[in-house]
Amino acid sequence: MFQAATISATDKPGFYTELLQQLEGLLHGERDAIANAANLSALLFDAMPRLNWAGFYLMRGGELVLGPFQGKPACVRIPVGRGVCGTAVAKRESIRVEDVHAFPGHIACDAASRSELVVPLIRDGDVIGVIDLDSPEPGRFDADDQAGIEAIASLYLEASDRF
Ligand code: SME
Repeated sequence: MFQAATISATDKPGFYTELLQQLEGLLHGERDAIANAANLSALLFDAMPRLNWAGFYLMRGGELVLGPFQGKPACVRIPVGRGVCGTAVAKRESIRVEDVHAFPGHIACDAASRSELVVPLIRDGDVIGVIDLDSPEPGRFDADDQAGIEAIASLYLEASDRF
């Protein structure tokens, strides 16, 4: 049985190095994409301070559909180009929003959310979904968080089959 260790690093790059090591252990021996997404959501929500939502939206029939997550119930479908998640898909790049109230078209699933980080999952050139993190703290996510979650997304894709 996997047991998450408390992360000891006090700097963000060190935090993500430890988180990646934990994720390797968590996904070891399992390639089911939904099971791995569910466990990754739980790991992120448990390990990362000051989050109110952590999870996946998956591309289904040309739009994003809610996947495994931790946090309050969320909107189910997001068209490409809409909200922070749909914009990350359209641009095929990570998006960090310091203040969601200042992002035109932000979709408020939890009124507590103040900042957001969305990282696209790109497999063989196709965006197959996103990882979405929300925080109740403005400016919670910086460039180190973006690089860390992008590395986490790459490991998740390598360790999991297609869904
Ligand atoms: N805020 C997102 C919607 C998803 S919830 O945050 C979980 C967006 O604007 O795309």
